[in-house]
Amino acid sequence: MELNITCIPGDGIGPEIVAEAKKVLDAVAKKFGHTMKYTDILMGGASIDAYGVPLTDEAIETAKSADAVLMGSIGGDTTTSPWYKLPPELRPEAGLLAIRKALNLFANLRPAVLYEELAGACPLKEEISAAGFDMLIMRELTGGLYFGERKTVEENGVLKAIDTLTYNENEIRRIAVKGFDIAMKRRKKVTSVDKANVLDSSRLWRKVVEEVAKDYPEVTLEHMLVDNCAMQLVKDPAQFDVILTENMFGDILSDEASMVTGSIGMLASASLNDTKFGLYEPSHGSAPDIAGKDIANPIATVLSASMMLRYSFDLDKEADAIDNAVKSVLKDGYRTGDIMSRGCAQVGCRQMGDLLAQRI
Ligand code: IPM
Ligand code: MG
Repeated sequence: MELNITCIPGDGIGPEIVAEAKKVLDAVAKKFGHTMKYTDILMGGASIDAYGVPLTDEAIETAKSADAVLMGSIGGDTTTSPWYKLPPELRPEAGLLAIRKALNLFANLRPAVLYEELAGACPLKEEISAAGFDMLIMRELTGGLYFGERKTVEENGVLKAIDTLTYNENEIRRIAVKGFDIAMKRRKKVTSVDKANVLDSSRLWRKVVEEVAKDYPEVTLEHMLVDNCAMQLVKDPAQFDVILTENMFGDILSDEASMVTGSIGMLASASLNDTKFGLYEPSHGSAPDIAGKDIANPIATVLSASMMLRYSFDLDKEADAIDNAVKSVLKDGYRTGDIMSRGCAQVGCRQMGDLLAQRI
């Protein structure tokens, strides 16, 4: 089959990790008889430098015409990079928000898994990590505070900033359906996270999630307040299967969840719309401090490519081949610096890509 993929190398370590993911995808294509057609577009700082805006209309059109998008990472050092002297709507992150909205990528799937081989890197006490964990955060991605009306005004000489948190029931319903659908393929438990003791948007969230739950009698639903969830993630992460939550809560909780795995360099993510189309990217950022040094961990991007094969192309065997290659390389003791532990062999970004491609 021909796979038409738009790639966004982006900024920082983005180009390095996307190059390794392509290497692994090419190995998959060779082994399973597929053709990969890549078209690169610029986004974030790279696009600002080339065109003065973080995402052009042409780039959006290119992405729309593909079957799927594979992204590295965007953005720079927010204190030193000149990109952050620009008005907010011209900064790198605005490109990411724009592509999410333009492609209607409302469902953001962020798995957080404790890898057996990397259990030593988990920052939790052993009595907690011993239970292992494997959760998926289903984050709403095109609504809430990120896309509500915002402005800064001056009233009687006092500056005032306003951000609005809005959700309608349809936006909540469609992400809830995605959350329950995926729970059916996992351990059939949904923890819906909100702040219903304070926010109206959360009370509507809870009501709609309960309505949706009626169509999934096999799935256990529980509600949890977001502050409690932040606590439970470090106290007892094994209790979670699918965490279903709104945009801002999901942003915060997914960083926390990835940190407790001890290996953020390993975590993939998918942002999906109502069709098979999706944008796939690692959960980590652009790490400008280590860019260009060939020390970044490409595994999260490689695993994002695997998610892409699974969700956008229904190529399960091919995706399994990538997941197994990752397991096998880890089992044989190869590590990039971020997940290095005693007795293992430290390798760079390119060498990790080579090792993974060889094992497809
Ligand atoms: C993420 C990032 C983005 C977000 C930023 C870069 C706008 O933190 O994907 O989690 O907040 O959604
Ligand atoms: Mg984030």
